[in-house]
Amino acid sequence: MTIDLAHHGDAEVGAGLIDLAVNVRHEPMPPWLAEPLAAAMTRLAAYPDGKRATAAVARRHRRDPAEVLLTAGAAQAFVLLAQALRGARRPVVVHPQFTEPELALRNAGHRVERVLLRAADGFRLDAALVPDDADLVVVGNPTNPTSVLHPAAEIAKLARPGRVLVVDEAFADSTYRPGVDGEPESLAGSRDLPGLVVLRSLTKTWGLAGLRIGYLLGPAELLPRLAAAQPLWAVSTPALAAATACASPVAVAAEREIAARLAAERDHLLRRLADVPKLTVAGVPASAFVSVRLENAEKVRLELRERGYAVRRGDTFPGLGPDWLRIAVRDTATTDAFVETLSAVIEE
Ligand SMILES: Cc1ncc(COP(=O)(O)O)c(C=O)c1O
Repeated sequence: MTIDLAHHGDAEVGAGLIDLAVNVRHEPMPPWLAEPLAAAMTRLAAYPDGKRATAAVARRHRRDPAEVLLTAGAAQAFVLLAQALRGARRPVVVHPQFTEPELALRNAGHRVERVLLRAADGFRLDAALVPDDADLVVVGNPTNPTSVLHPAAEIAKLARPGRVLVVDEAFADSTYRPGVDGEPESLAGSRDLPGLVVLRSLTKTWGLAGLRIGYLLGPAELLPRLAAAQPLWAVSTPALAAATACASPVAVAAEREIAARLAAERDHLLRRLADVPKLTVAGVPASAFVSVRLENAEKVRLELRERGYAVRRGDTFPGLGPDWLRIAVRDTATTDAFVETLSAVIEE
C-alpha cells in the first residue's frame, strides 16, 4: 500500500466538527501580535523587507542574523532544503514524523531512505539507527505525530562534518519541563554542531497557519544556498510583522506560560485516556497532541465524526499504521467530553 504523504489534519476537519485533528492553538490573538499585524496591513503597497524581523529572530535565539532565514512557514524550509541540497547522496528521514520533509525531498528528485523508530521503544531516537554515510538527515523534535521529545544530546550525536542535520522544531515552543527556564531539548541556539539546521514554525502556538511564517537557523555558509532556492519576497509584510512580534521577550514569556498550561492539559488528557479500554498511548508525549493505538481505529475515527469530533488518522504516517489516531490536546472540558464519547464508541 502506498501511503498518502500529502494528507494532513486540515483535510479531516469539517463544518460543525470539534477539531482535535489540527495542531494549531485556537485562542484570541494577544494585542502585542494583533496590533503590528493590523499596522502591517497599511503598508502593503511596499515590497516586504525582512531585515528587522531577521534581526529580531536572531536576537531571540542568540544567533547572528546571517544564521537566520525567514520562510513562508516551516513547510517552505523543507522545499528549500530539498532543492538546494540536490547533491545529497543518501538522504534519510527518521519516521514516524511529519510527512512533508520526505515529500519535498521526493519532489526534488531525491531517493529517500526511512529510519523507523519503534512503538516498543517508545518511539525514542537511537542515533545509531541512522546510517553513518547519510549526508542529509531529517528528524523532528518534539516529533509530530508521536509527541516524543528526544534528548538534545541524542540528536547532537547525529551531527558531523559532511552531513546536513535538519531538526524540525515546529513544536519546540510547546514543550515544558518544570525547573527548566527555556525549551527543554531545543537546539535552536546551538552554533557548535556541524551542519545543524533547526526549523521553527510560528503558525502553531500563535494560530497563524493561514499567514505562513516560520524560519530556519543554521550555518551562515549554508544559508545563502537555501535563500537562493527561495522565491523573491516569499515572506509577506504581515508575516514579517508577526515574526518580529513573536520574537520579543513578551512573546517568549507568553509561550512559556502557554506551554506550562498545555502540559497540565496534556496530563489531564493522559489521565483520562488511561481509563479508556483497549487503548495505548505512544511513548511519553511532550507536545500539543498525543498518538494512540487501538483496534478498529478507522471505524472509531469515522464514528467519532458522526458524533461531532475530528481526530487525525494515523495510517498516513510511515511507522504508524491503520490502528493509530492522533488527538490534539485541548482544554479540560473539551477533553472530558471527547474521552467520554471515545470510550462509548470503543465499548459499543
Ligand atoms: C512537525 C511539523 N513541522 C512543520 C510543519 C509546518 O508548519 P508551518 O505551518 O510552519 O509550515 C508542521 C505542520 O503541521 C508540522 O506538523
